[in-house]
Amino acid sequence: MKKKMLGGTKRTSIVVLLASAVAVISFIIPLLRHHQSKLVVDRLWKPEELAIYNGTDANLPILLAILGSVFDVTKGKSHYGPGGSYSHFSGRDASRAFVSGNFTGDGLIDSLHGLSSVEVKSVVDWRDFYFRSYIYVGNLIGRYYNSQGEKTKYLKGVEAKAARGAQLLEKQKNEEAKMPSCNSKWSQQEGGEVWCDVGYPRLVQRPHEIALTGKMSRRCACYKEEELGQPGLEVYKGCDYLSKVCAV
Ligand code: HEM
Ligand SMILES: *[C@@H]1O[C@H](CO)[C@@H](O)[C@H](O)[C@H]1NC(C)=O
Ligand SMILES: *[C@@H]1O[C@H](CO)[C@@H](O)[C@H](O)[C@H]1NC(C)=O
Repeated sequence: MKKKMLGGTKRTSIVVLLASAVAVISFIIPLLRHHQSKLVVDRLWKPEELAIYNGTDANLPILLAILGSVFDVTKGKSHYGPGGSYSHFSGRDASRAFVSGNFTGDGLIDSLHGLSSVEVKSVVDWRDFYFRSYIYVGNLIGRYYNSQGEKTKYLKGVEAKAARGAQLLEKQKNEEAKMPSCNSKWSQQEGGEVWCDVGYPRLVQRPHEIALTGKMSRRCACYKEEELGQPGLEVYKGCDYLSKVCAV
């Protein structure tokens, strides 16, 4: 009886020991990992230093900069590592390519010169994405931060322009909410089709500054009969003036 109790206690203490070991290990491992990523803390980077972290050396973290903010994107190695679709972003600040999608030659530069406010806004959105998704490790000295790590006039200008872009998009969203969008469907057999619950489908061009951002330059919206005289409304090709459904 006593022996049995003793055995039970022994077993219990082994279980407790094992459990503590597991607890300690699972506590330490994330700490180690954390430590590793903290090798590169919030600091100032020179372009030639950043270039070393382009993913070529498998022992080093992969870093990229956007608008002069530097991020550790090692956990996105499949995108940013050698051979990844977005490896050209690694080891440099190629802010412009986030809008142009041009990952070659002069496309891979940090200047946003000549871009619209909406395009500049989309680069700032990408920077937000990196703040949310990856580890921020400091600022890159150059166009966006000076050697004291302060924002340059250029970055302040970019952020102000992005704010105007955001306003423009907001205004556009409110405008578009007034005119309901068409319903649409697409199938292999029948192709595409748009129709309105109320009113008639029309193609409308978005304002120039918004259209510049690409794909989204036109949309289908529904107009009531008395509104069809407005300028800028296009009847779908092959569709009658008062058709309720149009092929696209
Ligand atoms: C201006 C053009 C483009 C830019 C700047 C861009 C940029 C990026 C970046 C930076 C990522 C990685 C996000 C992350 O870290 O998780 C990404 C992911 C992705 N992109 Fe693009 N992209 C562009 C165009 C395209 C196009 C045209 C396609 C499709 C035809 C595409 C498909 C994808 C997909 C599927 C992913 C996610 C991959 C995954 O999570 O495994 N991208 N893009
Ligand atoms: C990355 O940087 C190294 C060292 O600066 C360089 O030799 C290599 O060509 C670069 N790789 C890419 C993909 O740019
Ligand atoms: C990308 O930029 C380079 C350099 O400005 C240019 O020569 C090339 O034609 C561009 N490519 C595309 C696809 O726009």
